[in-house]
Amino acid sequence: MKVSEAITSRRSIRAFLDRPVEEDVLRRIIERAARAPSGGNLQPWHIYMLRGEPLTQFKQLMSERVAAEPGGEGAGGEGVDYVMYPEKMGRAYMERRSTFGEALYTSLGIQRGDRESRSKWMHHNYQFYDAPAGLFCYVSREAGPMQWADLGMYLQSVMLLLREEGLDSCPQAAWARYGRTVSSFLRAPDDQMLFCGMAIGYADAEHPVNTFATERILTKEFATFLGFDGAGS
Ligand SMILES: Cc1cc2nc3c(=O)[nH]c(=O)nc-3n(C[C@H](O)[C@H](O)[C@H](O)COP(=O)(O)O)c2cc1C
Repeated sequence: MKVSEAITSRRSIRAFLDRPVEEDVLRRIIERAARAPSGGNLQPWHIYMLRGEPLTQFKQLMSERVAAEPGGEGAGGEGVDYVMYPEKMGRAYMERRSTFGEALYTSLGIQRGDRESRSKWMHHNYQFYDAPAGLFCYVSREAGPMQWADLGMYLQSVMLLLREEGLDSCPQAAWARYGRTVSSFLRAPDDQMLFCGMAIGYADAEHPVNTFATERILTKEFATFLGFDGAGS
């Protein structure tokens, strides 16, 4: 598979086939993705991979935890260790987020005002969308913006390598709302902070949630080209 094919075929998959993923494939990908660059070669990613019995146990624990605290840990999910979205977000970002949310819920036949169904669907995050494997990415609490950017490079490398193996994924910041439970299950050290999880498996192509494609803004809206003669798009 060409890199460009991996990039264009990657999308967030939120329903998976009941088909296990081979241990060796996952190990290889986790190892290879570490060729991702990082400032000063710090390699600040800490990865926990779950499959098989530990994943089954973990999912059971999560269904109990979500039933007990549906909004996340702490008051209203305030147990989250980092700010996911700025409190005051520019209009363009707000619009993109809401367009994505509409496309997602429309694909599932959930109406805009149906908060109960939305939140029920949201809780699928905490079962890794029924994927047969899942990953958690941690970073040191002392890490700054540069190390956080490094995590993105590592995780995108994982997602592209998964495509090469015919596998799909969904990165999930939603897990940060249950960071305490996740960390205690994984026995992650206190000086590590949960950034996100990732559901991993074979896509269920028939499931409606996997049928919508997200849009991208025009290149000219985010890129500036200096010394280029063509008009571009
Ligand atoms: C850091 C990060 C966190 C995300 N968190 C979630 C999440 O918690 N749940 C989810 O369903 N999708 C999540 N996504 C997926 C985004 O919604 C998705 O990448 C975006 O809408 C673009 O769609 P695409 O990945 O299909 O191209 C996350 C993506 C990233 C990069």
